[in-house]
Amino acid sequence: MKNLLITGGAGFIGVNFIRYLLEESDFEGRIINVDKLTYAGNPESLCDIEESYEDRYFFVKADISDKDSLSVVFDKFEIDAICHFAAESHVDRSIASPIEFIRTNILGTYNLLELSRERGGRIRLFHHISTDEVFGSLEDGGYFTESTHYSPNSPYSASKASSDHLVRAYNKTFDLPITISNCSNNYGPFQFPEKLIPLMILNALEDTALPIYGDGLNIRDWLYVRDHCTAIWTIMQKGRIGETYNIGGRNETQNIKVVEMICDYLDVIVGKRPNRESRRGLITFVADRPGHDRRYAIDSNKICSQLGWMPVESFETGLLKTIKWYLENDAWVNNVRSGEYLTWIKEHYG
Ligand code: NAD
Ligand code: DAU
Repeated sequence: MKNLLITGGAGFIGVNFIRYLLEESDFEGRIINVDKLTYAGNPESLCDIEESYEDRYFFVKADISDKDSLSVVFDKFEIDAICHFAAESHVDRSIASPIEFIRTNILGTYNLLELSRERGGRIRLFHHISTDEVFGSLEDGGYFTESTHYSPNSPYSASKASSDHLVRAYNKTFDLPITISNCSNNYGPFQFPEKLIPLMILNALEDTALPIYGDGLNIRDWLYVRDHCTAIWTIMQKGRIGETYNIGGRNETQNIKVVEMICDYLDVIVGKRPNRESRRGLITFVADRPGHDRRYAIDSNKICSQLGWMPVESFETGLLKTIKWYLENDAWVNNVRSGEYLTWIKEHYG
């Protein structure tokens, strides 16, 4: 892998993965980050990387649903591997308006696959990042394995399921060398504060309501983003072509418990609320998300036993690191919350 195309590299996981590859891993090639810079993409998160790795890191603002612009990137940078993160990723937005999810997650993935196929044997690996949400909801115990049947419940997960099937089909039909990973809920630095953990940290700091959907007993299997990055790189190096790998953090936790932990940590780290009460008093139960999946839990035995990967963070250590990051990076937080990063993007990229 000399010229690795990373799509969606200005988003939460993409930023962490690019940092991991350049700063911590044994990857020696060039990274070409293609991102449309939607509300969720913030290239400011990689300003220092752009400066420190000017001969190995390149940013191109492009939309993966525009095949022609992508084609130019494939040829100009002689792309030989792809790690595909770019997606519309927020379930609530997919319920409010599904069309961008269809365009980016399905059509965008199709474009990348076609461009890879058209380049014959030049593409050595197409790694597709997917989600455990394609498997639906685990109501009666058990775990998602790589052979669990697909049963997506939201427009977001249906669009991701569709992209997974396309990626798989391009391997079976056209022999494109692919791998797929389906992972559980990520958390950590640089996550856009529409997702549960950063939203709750920032609302709790601002002394505003902490909205919990339904009864708060829905369960997610939390994966610290750096553990996700090591898993992806492990698969890209050692995974078997054509295979799927599940990645989970072994941290099943109810939403209410997650939010209570955030409140309790903040009460200790920054002190209690202005009225001297615990931040738990900010918890507010609100209407449930339509089609809200009850429980996700990943069996990651395959990647652990076959490829030797292990997550290193417990939910407690990962959550503390995350809270600390949001406390120490108020410039990033303020930019994102105020929308100022969008002005910056306009100035830099038009
Ligand atoms: P994110 O929303 O933070 O970032 C998505 C990035 O993709 C943004 O930078 C955005 O600008 C870019 N993008 C969106 N549409 C694009 C388009 N048409 N062309 C080019 N770029 C575009 O998402 P994330 O949380 O970093 O998720 C990354 C990937 O991981 C997604 O495929 C998502 O489905 C998957 N995933 C995420 C999680 C999670 O918990 N965050 C868990 C499992 C899987
Ligand atoms: O499981 C992997 C998926 O995790 C990824 O594929 C998605 O891209 C990612 O967004 C995430 O989806 P979720 O819907 O699980 O994440 P979210 O942070 O939106 O919600 C986590 C849980 O918290 C979920 O049960 C809904 C609940 N929730 C969320 C928000 C934003 C609340 O109770 N209140 C909230 O305000």
